[in-house]
This record gives sequence, structure tokens and C-alpha cells, in this order.
Amino acid sequence: MCGIIGCVGRGKDTLGTLVHGLEKLEYRGYDSAGVALGGAELSVCRSSGKIGAFKKVLTERDIAGPLGIGHTRWSTHGPPTDENAHPHLDCAGEVAVVHNGIIENYRSLRDELVAAGHTFTSDTDTEVIPHLIEDERDSATDPETAFRSAIERIEGSYAIVAVFAGTELLLGARNDSPLVIGLDEEAIFLASDVPAFRDFTDRVIYLEDGEIARVDGGLEVTTGDGTRVEKTVSRVEWDPEETGKSGYDHFMLKEIHEQPRALRQCLSGRVDELGGTVDLGDIGELRPSAVQFVACGTSYHAAYYAALLFESAGIPAQAYLASEYATAVPPIGEALVVGITQSGETADTLSALREADRRGARTLAVTNTVGSTADRETDHTMYIRSGPEIGVAATKTFAGQLVAVNLLSLATGEGETRRREIVPALRDLPGDVQSVLDDSTAEEIAATYHDAGAYFFIGRGIQYPVALEGALKLKEISYKHAEGFAAGELKHGPLALVQEDTPVFALVTGDDEAAKKTVGNVKEVEARNAPVVAVTDKKSDVAMYADHVLEIPDTHPRSGAVLANVQLQLVAYHIANRLDRSIDKPRNLAKSVTVE
Ligand code: G6P
Repeated sequence: MCGIIGCVGRGKDTLGTLVHGLEKLEYRGYDSAGVALGGAELSVCRSSGKIGAFKKVLTERDIAGPLGIGHTRWSTHGPPTDENAHPHLDCAGEVAVVHNGIIENYRSLRDELVAAGHTFTSDTDTEVIPHLIEDERDSATDPETAFRSAIERIEGSYAIVAVFAGTELLLGARNDSPLVIGLDEEAIFLASDVPAFRDFTDRVIYLEDGEIARVDGGLEVTTGDGTRVEKTVSRVEWDPEETGKSGYDHFMLKEIHEQPRALRQCLSGRVDELGGTVDLGDIGELRPSAVQFVACGTSYHAAYYAALLFESAGIPAQAYLASEYATAVPPIGEALVVGITQSGETADTLSALREADRRGARTLAVTNTVGSTADRETDHTMYIRSGPEIGVAATKTFAGQLVAVNLLSLATGEGETRRREIVPALRDLPGDVQSVLDDSTAEEIAATYHDAGAYFFIGRGIQYPVALEGALKLKEISYKHAEGFAAGELKHGPLALVQEDTPVFALVTGDDEAAKKTVGNVKEVEARNAPVVAVTDKKSDVAMYADHVLEIPDTHPRSGAVLANVQLQLVAYHIANRLDRSIDKPRNLAKSVTVE
């Protein structure tokens, strides 16, 4: 996730302060960095890669200024190259901008600006902002008026900070992306997160959506229509070292709580709720006759779920463990092979995608990582836009994958009736996830069952891959024995292991035949006196046979799977936390496995 720092009032230390701020924002994840120093002319320096590389580039440049802005970029539009790194400039080089978020209408704005004679030098959505400001400066009397008019033309999520040549002025604006102001005796800071300036001050102001901050000799915060807002100055009490986790004990818990935002970003600009349409650009033109999914670990569970969506639309689809793909029947006709991989670097998945390419299939990567090997080597890429995930156990990226493959199947395989049914459920999903996070009693369940010897998870149909994922999450971070089963399979063997001290988590959504059958399987468990935790929307009578209920909002079963998974993420987290496990870095596991 991009990081922003801006400062006025640090004099000769401006550049050092910006670089220090960028280092403090490294925990957010990034792939390039840059700064712009203000003055009579703007001095810009930026490069792909880590801060260490960026500092080397800086030593070859002699730049200084009384104020400036800096940025760590986490790519969403265009690969991590020097050209795509922020800050971005207008044609005349008079305004430099850093941005965090996604400009949804950037394509139409860019077309408009190009037609008006502007020249673009990057692939980013961000670059429209300085050109828009430049465009507005033709009619505006001062930089702030031009900035405000430009902001009005932007749709999407953003935290933006701009610096103007020939001024000592920083302007900041936010919508759905954080921007905080730091105040010390001499300097004022604008940043996407407190750690960027926490070593200088603990006095902060939190900007709200729609507010604009003007920082020069002093600070003025106004609403979009120019009305002055009196802001409260808060004192930050926590230790700077903890700030990367934003107050959460672990990155995993933070990332679980980031899911509503991650899903909004995944949906942003891709679904039209009124028309019930899904726009994935070129990918939406694909009409596969069959789909093969290849993936590993958690991503394989998303692949399994994805295959069910396509099959239900009448398109033959199969999920393969990427390491087993060599044995798959080669795809024929207009087949599409989709690699699902949050990192885009998993060796087994890359190898399967290369095999698919050799077999003549069209390939698509569903990934969180712009510029990753999977992104570069496949014919098409769909980004899940979850933001960086630091905890080794995948959480928000799994939710992002489930939403992304819904969009994929709606855009390439399913008809209008399906879209009209699913799009509203997807639209409500971020809010539904939030209510699960707000109301979950998973911590109590963890308190009751954290010392069990084994845990089973059962689900049928769309809930089966969620059962697999619930078990994987628990074993990854708690080191407990956990298994997921298709609900109907339990009686064909695993039931022999079910005892009074074996909690069984049963996923039941809706009240159709599949749900009724799963309730039957729950009764089999109950008859063995094993404790049952039902994860359910309460449409069926499963609660009658359960010892505990983890409730999810009533929605379409496809979104219900995402919601049930959030409950299981929380169960796994709280059990592992009670056992004092190394949650963010479990033993023997790695975030990105680059060996076969
Ligand atoms: C590793 C990780 C898993 C992850 C899998 C696939 O095994 O430990 O958590 O699910 O790789 O990762 P990918 O980046 O391809 O989604």
C-alpha cells in the first residue's frame, strides 16, 4: 500500500526528513520510491526498488528545498518502473503530486487530457492528477483553486499531497484513504500514517474524507466548499515501533480487519450496480470454452471455489494443485488456464502456467502483485488489489481472490440474470464483512476449544473450499491438527476420528437440499457427542443441533462463503493467540515459496 510523507518547516533537513519518513512507511509494502523538493523549481528524484536503492540514486543528485513530498509506491496501475514511481508532474513541471488509492475515472480523464494536448509519461492512474491541476490552472487564480477544481473531477479513493513550484505550499486531500497531519514547533507534516513523522512529534490531526489541508507557514483545514473546519489535535500515545500494526497485536489481525476496504478496492470501478454489469476491460472479452485453475495453498481453495462458479454457469472447469498440473489433461479449444497466486511468485504455480503456455492455452494471472513474474509471463492479469499482506497466513488476499473470481466468472461466463443476482450481493459484501468483524463471538469459541487435540471443518458445495481453508488457516498458525472435509464424506472414514473432544465446525448457508444434507451430517456428529460450531446465516435449522453458532449475515451463498471464512479466520487467530504462537511468522512456512 502506498505511503505518503510531506513536510514544510524542516529547512535544510527537508530531504532527510522525507527519506526518514519513507523508511518508516516501509512496513506498508512498496516497490518504488521518490521525492519532490519545492522551491523556485521542483526537483524530483524517483526510482523503482527499495529505499536502499533509492538512497543510492539520491547520492548522485544534488537536490534540496525548504519543503517537499515523498512516496513509497505499491503498484496498482502499471509495473514498478522508475517512470511509474511517484511523484508525478504536469507538462510544465510546476506541480508534483503523490497519491495513495485508485482513481476510478482515470481512463476517461486521461483521454480528455491527452485530447487537450497533455503528454503522459507513466502508466499510472495518479498522473492524471497533476495534469488536471495544470488544466485547471488556466482558469484558476491560484494553485489552491486549481487543486480544488481538480479534486472535484476525480472519482475514487485517494490521499493526495501536491507541491507547487515557486511557492512554499503543500495541499492535501483525502477520500476513503487516510491522511494525517503532524504538528511540531517548527514543522508541519502530512502523511498517510503516523509513523512517517512520529519521531518528530506526537501531536496529530486526522483529516476526514472531503477535507482539504493547506500547509504553508501554518495549517488551514477546509471542506470541499471552502468552509473552515476547527480540528482537534490528538496526542499519539503508542510506541513508534508498534505503529506498523496500527495498534493490532499482529499483522494477521490487522489484515483480517482490513478486508472490508480490500474488497471495496477489488470491486472499485469494476461493477455497475445499477446496470448489473461487470467491466474487466479486455478480460471481459474472453469467452473460454473451458477453464483450468492452478494454484497452491490458500490460493488453491480460491481456485476450487472459482471452478465451482464456472461449472455452475455450464463452463467445464477444474481446479488443480499447481504442483500436480503436469498430470492434467491438456486444455483444448478456447481453454483458459488461470493461475491464482497472491504473490505472483509461487514456483509451482509459475511452472504450471508455463506448462499451460507450452500446451497452447491462453493464460491469466489473478494476483495481488503488479509486476510479479505471473503478471509478466501470462497473457492477461487481473489484480485483486488487496494491498500488501505481511502476515504469512493469507487472509485478506484470499477474500480478494474470492471476489475477483466472482467478477471473472460474471464477466466471462455467466449471463445477465446471474449478474443481476450476484452484483448486489458483492456490493454489500464489504459492509457484511464489517458486521461479522464487529459482532463475531469467535474469541469465545477459541477460549472454549483452544486446547482440543484436533479440529474438523465440514462444508458442501461452495462451502467445501471454505472448510478446507478454515482447517489450513488453523493448522498454519496454531500447529494444531485440523482437517477440512466435504460434509458428505465425513461418514466415509473421518467420522471414526470424531470424539467428544473433537470440535467440528459446520458451514451451512441457505436452506436448500445441500444445506439440509449438511444438517444431516451435523446430526451424525452430534450423535457422537462431538461439540459442533455452526457457521450459518440461520436459514436452516442447523443451530438446533449445534453447541455454538457463529452467525453471518443473510446473503447470496457465494458471498456467504466469504463471510463464513472471516469467522474461521478469527477462530484460527484467537486459538493461535491463546497458544502464544508466532502468528505472523509460523514455523517452517514462508509467504512466498519460490522453489518447486
Ligand atoms: C505458501 C504460503 C501459503 C500460500 C501459498 C500460495 O505456501 O505459505 O500461505 O497460500 O504459498 O501462495 P500464492 O502467493 O501463490 O498465493
